[in-house]
Amino acid sequence: MNIQEIIGQKRDGKELSKEEISYFVSKYTDGTITDYQAAALIMSMYINGMNEVETTNLTLEMASSGDILDLSEISNNVIDKHSTGGVGDKITLILLPTIASLGIPVAKMSGRGLGFTGGTVDKLESIPGYRTQIDIMEFINNVKKIGISIIGQTTNLAPADKKMYALRDTINCVESIPLIVSSIMSKKIASGANKIVLDVTVGSGAFMKNKEDAIKLSKMMKKIGEITKRETTCVLTNMNEPVGYAIGNTLEVIEAVECLKGNVSKDIKEIITTIGSYIIKLSGKNDNLEENKKMILDNIENGKAYNKFLELIQNQGGDTEYIKNLDKFEKAKYIMPVVSEKDGFIEEINAEKIGKVSVMLGAGRIKKEDDIDKTVGIILNKKISDKVQKGEVLAYVHANDEQKGKEAVEKIKEIYKISEMKIEKEKIILGVI
Ligand code: URA
Repeated sequence: MNIQEIIGQKRDGKELSKEEISYFVSKYTDGTITDYQAAALIMSMYINGMNEVETTNLTLEMASSGDILDLSEISNNVIDKHSTGGVGDKITLILLPTIASLGIPVAKMSGRGLGFTGGTVDKLESIPGYRTQIDIMEFINNVKKIGISIIGQTTNLAPADKKMYALRDTINCVESIPLIVSSIMSKKIASGANKIVLDVTVGSGAFMKNKEDAIKLSKMMKKIGEITKRETTCVLTNMNEPVGYAIGNTLEVIEAVECLKGNVSKDIKEIITTIGSYIIKLSGKNDNLEENKKMILDNIENGKAYNKFLELIQNQGGDTEYIKNLDKFEKAKYIMPVVSEKDGFIEEINAEKIGKVSVMLGAGRIKKEDDIDKTVGIILNKKISDKVQKGEVLAYVHANDEQKGKEAVEKIKEIYKISEMKIEKEKIILGVI
């Protein structure tokens, strides 16, 4: 078997066998297959698609490219949650400490920013000292000790995904159902939790632009969950505008901490209570979804969720003084308002375009080895359906480069669509599978 033949098969739209997929995954992981060969194959997978059998084989091979953890000694119900990607998506930072504060063990391996979307690992790393790259023993011990650990991809867990994920980002091959399924589910299988809730985002700021594709993606991930005995629930959430108000790494951590202190925006509240209610149900703690939503809000209100977040940060080496005093976080040099030029109601804030502006400011990567700027980003001041008057601020750009900041202001002015008529807010939760 050789990689040229495998690339040729997929380039010509043929099905890949289990052996061919296994060869590719193992030889790319160990470095025998080069990035340019992998890029050619991944591009062919993206263009010609993969059927269910191929997608399942790819996922299982990627999962077993490293260790597969068994967390059953901790509990029969260890929880993991993953989002298929979004803009301003800080749900993990708010929800998972809240879940852990209810006594439900959480073991979560997160990713970095991908394309125009942000990643939890980049956000956590904006907290000075927080270690996302810890070894597997420490990961397991953290879950045992404090009931939660959130880490980045280690070399030992789904290493094939770590390489493929970074490569896909730089060759514009992210928005593909089989590639997203295999990327997410390989990580989830490897990191050992046996109950998984997936936030499947839909809309302009998501990789799935419509509900039909989101349903297809969800069904495929659920099926792989079944095959691997990981009970999986998918919650479809609206990503037609950014989640909450902040976009950018430090800015999102600050918003997440504010939420944990009880200052939660309406959209974030609906997402965390809905996804959280299914997590609590899957954990076996309580089947009643309405009661579960109340448990989430109660633990935010009584400070238990915030305290668990502090414990998580401290336990992984982060400086909790930054969390206790948010003013300590380094700020971008320029904070520039985007001012509305007319009266009306906000009709559209295309989340993908906002995500691209934040990448341009430095919050995301263009090349896989790029450093990111933790301080830059955007704070929305108006969301869809809000009333706005000429001269009011729509958003603030946080930039370290004045020219880029000015460019961002002009772009955001165009991204905000303002209507003369009142606009109804779209539904946030679009379905559960
Ligand atoms: N999140 C992942 O982990 N992988 C993808 O491919 C997309 C979102």
